[in-house]
Parts: sequence; C-alpha cells; structure tokens
Amino acid sequence: MTDDVGLAEFALGLPKAELHLHLEGTLEPELKFELAARNGIELAEKTVAEVRATYDFTDLTSFLAVYYPAMGVLQTADDFHDLAWAYLQKAASQGVVHVEMFFDPQAHTSRGVPFENVIGGYRRAAVRAETELGVSAELILCFLRDFSAEHAMSTLMEALPYRRWIVGVGLDSDERDNPPSKFADVFARARAEGFLLTMHCDIDQPGSIEHIRQVLTEIEVDRIDHGTNIVESPELVALVKERGLGLTCCPVSNSFVTEQMKSDEIVGLMREGVAVTVNSDDPAYFGGYVGDNYVALAEHAGLSRADLVQLAINSFQASWLTPARRAAYVAQVADYAASHGVALEV
Ligand code: ADE
Ligand code: ZN
Repeated sequence: MTDDVGLAEFALGLPKAELHLHLEGTLEPELKFELAARNGIELAEKTVAEVRATYDFTDLTSFLAVYYPAMGVLQTADDFHDLAWAYLQKAASQGVVHVEMFFDPQAHTSRGVPFENVIGGYRRAAVRAETELGVSAELILCFLRDFSAEHAMSTLMEALPYRRWIVGVGLDSDERDNPPSKFADVFARARAEGFLLTMHCDIDQPGSIEHIRQVLTEIEVDRIDHGTNIVESPELVALVKERGLGLTCCPVSNSFVTEQMKSDEIVGLMREGVAVTVNSDDPAYFGGYVGDNYVALAEHAGLSRADLVQLAINSFQASWLTPARRAAYVAQVADYAASHGVALEV
C-alpha cells in the first residue's frame, strides 16, 4: 500500500541528484533585472513578461540565440554567486541533495569577464550550499563547441589553478558541424589532468548517432548529456550498458527544442537497464526545475512511483560521487521509498 501523498509531492520530495544543469540557464528574469540594475546595464525588455515573450524556441540554435545575450548582466563574482545560490536553494526545495553543475566560462571570458570572477562566485555558492542547505555541489567546466579547439585548450589551461574546484569537463553549445572529434586533443589533455569527461549529444542533431559513437569510442567519456538518439543503435546501447554509463536526459527541455519530451526513448532505455537520469538543463528558460521534470515525465509517460525511485537511484549511480557516497544516497532513496510504501524491485 502506498501512502496518500500525491505523485507530484512524492516526486518533489524524493532525494535526487541533478547531473545536467547549466548555471547560466538558471537566470530567471527577476534576477536578470536585479543584476542589470546593479551593474548599470539598460535592458531592451522592461518587464518580466517582456523577457518571457522572447522565449520563443523551436530548436537548439534559437534557444542559444536568447541564452547567450542574457548573460551580459553577469559581471562580478557576487553576480555569479547570486545566480548559483538562487538555483541551489530552488533545487534543495525540490529534493536535490547532490548536483554537478555546468558552467560556460568562455561565454564570459570572451566578453572580458575574468575567469576568476566566474569560478570564484560559483565556488562560493557551492561551498555555502553544503553548509547551509546540506546540498553537495560540484562544478563541471563546459567548453563551447562552436568556438575553436584552441580556445578550448587555452580555457583548460586557465582552469588548471582551480582544478580542485572542478570535477570534470563537458562540451555544450551548437552541435551542428561541431562534432566531438573536433575536441579529441582537449579532452585527452583534460583526462590526463585528472578531470572526468562528459559531452552533450543533443537531441535529433545532424549526425547524432555518429556523435554518440565518437563520444563512446574516440573520446571515451564517463557520461553522456542527452544522448537519447542512441536508441537508433542497439550496439551502442549495449556498450553504454556494459560500461554502466549514465545518460543525463532533460524531458521538459526536449519538448522545447524538439516537438517531444522523448519520453518513449527515455523510458524505453530505463526499462532496458540503461542508467538514464532526469534533469532540468536550463530551468529558467524551459520553465521546470528537476522535480518538475520528474513530475512532467511521470504524468506524460504514466510512470509509477517505483519508476521515479529508479530514476532517483540512477541519478546517484550515474553521478561522479565516490562509491561510498553513492551507496549512502541510494540508501536514503530506499528509506524514502519504504516510508512511502513503495516496494523496490531487486
Ligand atoms: N547550453 C545550455 N544548454 C544547452 C543545451 N541543452 N545544449 C547545448 N548547449 C547548451
Ligand atoms: Zn544541456
């Protein structure tokens, strides 16, 4: 017998990790106005409604065309701290106990903001989350794939003095004509420097399945961001299962940049035993934080509470925590499930 807590409440309270979250994608219009005023920046839009009216995305490219200009209000370390802190509080309120957060330093250094402002502000919020919210928070440095490999390499060099604050590196931005192999040397160097590796293989891109093949066989990533086009290749599905690699899926985001949440793919992979996880991607733009994504997927695909528990367990299994910490969080999920009368499949 399950208790009488509703599905949404159950999903929001479930202890979970978020593994696919762009800090710059958490910039809510209200904070954008506050930071613009703080930094003496005049914005074209004058109201929150006017800002939201610009969120008219049909694909990844049209999303990025709104996402990058908005970052102009982020300048000082305090600005970056305030952005991350606002996200971390929101995440904690939706059951997040561990998060591995992407940030895009090149989107800031390329407009003259020092790297140390970016990492310094984000790191301060991450440390604060641990002490004030009990949320463990790590940073993943993402390279912009529509910049050159040389620019990525010099960004990696700039990051080395801060390596103890960065758990891994990723690759994001516009995938068209920017395959993973373009960054093979940068990622090999990052691996040699001790970073874990992940890369975006966005949804329904030209060459999606070839890009997934490259991240698995040439780059040898430790995780894949999105990557649901893998369903087109049973061999590659078998490979991620064999390696126990996680896929960080973002159903609400998918429904903005394509016509669907890709729930059939996400749920199908989960049922096949792939470590798929549910995440929010850019919640300020797509209107759903991670708990909201669990609820949206559950409602759309008719998931049970046991399915949601499986997704939460996957989120820790696919994380870059130590095995002991993963096990401790999985035990926390099991306790939550048991206290809500949900039997776990073993
Ligand atoms: N940058 C921010 N969000 C992204 C996404 N979903 N895909 C690629 N680049 C991004
Ligand atoms: Zn993303």
